[in-house]
Amino acid sequence: MKIALISDVHANLAALRAVLADIRRHQPDEIVCLGDTIGYGPQPAECLSIVRQSCSMVLMGNHEHAVLYGAEQFTPLAQAAIDWTARILRDSETLDYISSLKSDFRRGNLRFVHGSIRNPLLDYVREADTPWAFFYLVRTLQNDFADFNICFVGHNHRAFLGTEVGYIFPHDGGPVVKTGFHIGREKAYVSVGSVGQPRDGDWRSSWVMFDGEGVEYHRVEYDRGKTIDLIRQAGLPEFLAERLQFGN
Ligand SMILES: [Fe+2]
Repeated sequence: MKIALISDVHANLAALRAVLADIRRHQPDEIVCLGDTIGYGPQPAECLSIVRQSCSMVLMGNHEHAVLYGAEQFTPLAQAAIDWTARILRDSETLDYISSLKSDFRRGNLRFVHGSIRNPLLDYVREADTPWAFFYLVRTLQNDFADFNICFVGHNHRAFLGTEVGYIFPHDGGPVVKTGFHIGREKAYVSVGSVGQPRDGDWRSSWVMFDGEGVEYHRVEYDRGKTIDLIRQAGLPEFLAERLQFGN
């Protein structure tokens, strides 16, 4: 059973198309989207429609939630993008679809959330090289992963694997990084990174393939100039365009 995982498309259609083309070459049985399909980027309606057609499961992220219920807890920049997105996505069929999404899903040994298992919508799974961060990770895996082994998360826009023996950062500059992870022997947070707005220093879109045993991290180049132009044409905040250039 091969599951391809994507997250945080953030209305970046050029990135989504490039990732889906790469995923199809690897022939998964299904594609799962962990939320934040919209927000920040210039093509929310197009991305929602493609994700809906392509994925067997689509989660609600905090940006979908903010379009429906308000963005009070957001930064002014993110709030401006949510206001813009809400003006684009005002038809009731789209809003009904967004409101039908869940931010937490369980399937046997696997759990899928947008944020973390503590708070599937808003909390961040963080990776850091500090002893405290590692202690917190191990405690979470031992206490909160009681009846499942793997939790796939998005939201933090960073690709990494958190296990009881340490973090694995799949950032070697190549298009694919395989990990030595094996289901059944280890518990892990699989942070799948972001399709449309990576923040781990690599501008390329991130996606993950899980084959029942191992996890493979993929990075895909896309035409970021196209999305940057559309962000500027839409009048969205300039920082949202600039950060795509560097992946920060
Ligand atoms: Fe996000």
